[in-house]
Amino acid sequence: MRKLTYFVACTIDGFIGDPKGDATSTYSYVMGEYLEFLKTEYPETVAAPAWPVLGIEPGTPHRHYDTVIQGLGSYRIGLDAGVTSPYAHLREYVATRSLIESPDPNVELIADDLVGRVRELKAEDGGLGIWLCGGSTIAGELIEEIDELVIKTYPQVYGSGMPMFGAGFEPRDFTLGAVRAFDNGVLVRTYTRKR
Ligand SMILES: NC(=O)c1ccc[n+]([C@@H]2O[C@H](COP(=O)([O-])OP(=O)(O)OC[C@H]3O[C@@H](n4cnc5c(N)ncnc54)[C@H](OP(=O)(O)O)[C@@H]3O)[C@@H](O)[C@H]2O)c1
Repeated sequence: MRKLTYFVACTIDGFIGDPKGDATSTYSYVMGEYLEFLKTEYPETVAAPAWPVLGIEPGTPHRHYDTVIQGLGSYRIGLDAGVTSPYAHLREYVATRSLIESPDPNVELIADDLVGRVRELKAEDGGLGIWLCGGSTIAGELIEEIDELVIKTYPQVYGSGMPMFGAGFEPRDFTLGAVRAFDNGVLVRTYTRKR
């Protein structure tokens, strides 16, 4: 059984971006000790075009994930900039009902039964975990399938914005695992879903 992990960046008040999802205000925190942590502990979550820029060697082993799932709203950001396979080093899945043909051979589109397809991926033997990249909409749709959260909290408050989950109200319990605090105020917490 493979884990589905929502590895996501958010503000102190739990927003993954402004009301449209833009989180560029947090980028200035991706530096120093925290950036080194991301490069060594989660290199596979760095978009492929940024590997050479950040000095991540080609072929750097993945630590946690071999598969990524994102919604079209998230995938479209790269696509509009001409990046058809932002995580070319991973198996890439994009949930969409409007995009009919995949723009890239590495990207498989999921149009029907998103939950069922994710359950099939989770049921595969071996391999690493599945990274749920976001955004808010598909995280809300997959909320009951999420086994783990890795939340990168940036020391900013938005007041309003795009929530971590586009889901209805229901308390769901998680167990706190690793906690890492960085000198620039970023906090990375891992939680496991209590079943
Ligand atoms: N802070 C972070 O770490 C982080 C991470 C990821 C994304 N984000 C932000 O999140 C924003 C995007 O979030 P979002 O909520 O607007 O969009 P999203 O969740 O990325 O994508 C939503 C789209 O996914 C498709 N979809 C949703 N449910 C589906 C289902 N059951 N079956 C098939 N397709 C389905 C639909 O595409 P169709 O319309 O084609 O049907 C829907 O419009 C971006 O601005 C991005 O920057 C932030």
